[in-house]
Amino acid sequence: MITFEKILYIMKNISFLFAILLLMSCQNEKKEYQKVEEQNTIASNFDPLEAKKLMETHCYLCHSPSAEEKQGRIAPPMVAIKARYIDKEGYNKAEFIENVKAFVAHPTKEKALMYGAVKKHGLMPKQVFPEGSVEKIATFMFDYQI
Ligand code: HEC
Repeated sequence: MITFEKILYIMKNISFLFAILLLMSCQNEKKEYQKVEEQNTIASNFDPLEAKKLMETHCYLCHSPSAEEKQGRIAPPMVAIKARYIDKEGYNKAEFIENVKAFVAHPTKEKALMYGAVKKHGLMPKQVFPEGSVEKIATFMFDYQI
């Protein structure tokens, strides 16, 4: 015979099971959330302010955006390089970064696209920049208005 106590006992057990299930699903959600958060940290590892500073420190010496030629600018401004590489050559982001890196690592007349600038200012001198900085600078150049 099913007594009231038996029903109560069964119901208690069922609610206990539900509580456990609920707890488990919450933890799963938490894990998912953590995963998404981790991925976001990797993606946002790029710090545009740091990249901008690197560019100003290492490139603006010659590629100054504001200085007039007579004030001593000795290389085309970065916007001109962007226009040449992206608008005219049609480089996508990966190609832009690769080509800027390749040129800066070892500038040659064959690699140079800005023939006019080479003629006018001479080839960009080969220089050593901090590890990884040129990639950050090129990423910044591509992604942001400069
Ligand atoms: C000592 C001066 C100087 C510095 C510093 C300098 N450049 Fe240049 N750069 C030049 C000159 C001059 C040219 C134009 C002639 C040429 O294209 O080689 C040039 C051209 C370039 C070009 C276009 C190359 C082409 O013709 O296709 C890129 C890209 C470039 N520079 C990137 C950089 C980056 C990135 C930095 C900073 C990490 C930098 N430069 C720092 C002098 C400099």
